[in-house]
Amino acid sequence: MKKIIVLFMLTAIIQYSSSQYVFKPNYDEDKVPEYVVSNPLKTFQGKEVKTIELWENERRPELLDFFTQNVYGEVPSELAITSIEIVEQSADALEGKARRKQIELAFENNGKELRFKILLYLPKGIEKAPLFLGYNFYGNHTTINDPHIIISDAWSNNNASFGITNNKLNDQSRGLRTSRWCIEKIIDSGFGLATIYYGEVDPDKNDMTDGIHSLFYSEGQQAPASNEWGSIAAWSWGLSRAMDYFEKDADIDATKVIVFGHSRLGKTSLWAAAADQRFAAAISNNSGCGGAALSKRKFGETIWRINDSFPHWFCDNFKKYSNNEEQLPVDQHELLALIAPRPLYVASAEEDKWADPRGEFLSTYYATPVYELYGKTGIKKPDMPSVNNPIQNTVAYHIRTGKHNVTDYDWEQYIKWAKEQLF
Ligand code: GCU
Repeated sequence: MKKIIVLFMLTAIIQYSSSQYVFKPNYDEDKVPEYVVSNPLKTFQGKEVKTIELWENERRPELLDFFTQNVYGEVPSELAITSIEIVEQSADALEGKARRKQIELAFENNGKELRFKILLYLPKGIEKAPLFLGYNFYGNHTTINDPHIIISDAWSNNNASFGITNNKLNDQSRGLRTSRWCIEKIIDSGFGLATIYYGEVDPDKNDMTDGIHSLFYSEGQQAPASNEWGSIAAWSWGLSRAMDYFEKDADIDATKVIVFGHSRLGKTSLWAAAADQRFAAAISNNSGCGGAALSKRKFGETIWRINDSFPHWFCDNFKKYSNNEEQLPVDQHELLALIAPRPLYVASAEEDKWADPRGEFLSTYYATPVYELYGKTGIKKPDMPSVNNPIQNTVAYHIRTGKHNVTDYDWEQYIKWAKEQLF
């Protein structure tokens, strides 16, 4: 009997590891499995949700709880800003068009401290500016060509093209990512821009002993509990703390903060907007798996693959769904639905198959009934628009030509749509 059990276990282990070893992303629409799209307007117990009250009091909380406990993870407790310091500012930035502030927020808990800096540009002549808020990948100094931007000393992933070889950011990469931020157009349209280096909130590596997580540990604790926050939830938490600051800054209209993010940081902007209803709108640029894309399509990146490559992004409970998508009682369209009725823009890129553009689009379509409950217009048909042909309703979607990136084209759409939606 024992032998049989051991043999059975061995076979299972061999099968399991070989299936992982040969993982090849599926890019063939014909090979997308049949899958059930859960109904955002039906509770887990099967109750139909026909009113805003039922959505807000029952369905939304149960969905939010599911994503909190099983996907992104719970923030262990509240932690307020300990101190706010304007570390640098200028009334004459961007050739006189804008004001610049660099604000450092500090947090203290359990004898530990974390600090992160918000780089803020505000258009001149606007009393309270609406704002785009988004994280950057390689430091605030990469986003805008401005010699006054402070270089962070937080840990960074190495990247030879940014001259980062010892996990330290440096001056070589100043202005190298300006193409992703479109600052002139943002300011000229009357919006401000706030950006934060995500590594200051939590270094993007599979080590949970550092970053904001560590401020919440009990003695000897090295990692969050299985239902507690991974890095995406930690980064989202940072965006909410930036929002706490915006609410105190008289130069900002905190009722008009649009949270933006690309790729892993697009997953982050979606979760931030779902978890914190103070964000007026959300933009997900090429967010893919664990962001806007439907997991059950298993097209491009899958839950197993993302958990394997980035074990620290989601909570440990999410690993239950690796190669087990069918068991998920939700899908990512219900993450989008949590943002309703606030404006939501999902954008894909034609060549970014890894992020599953069709899965991102369908998510906006399947989230739409919740927007309609509020009398808002979402994505009415399940047919994808052609490339560079945006649909811009309260729920907006475009697929542009090109690769996984943020381009001027993307920003032009976001700015135009944000103006229509928020004013
Ligand atoms: C990887 C990862 C994606 C992620 C992307 C990024 O490609 O698999 O899930 O969106 O990195 O953040 O650039």
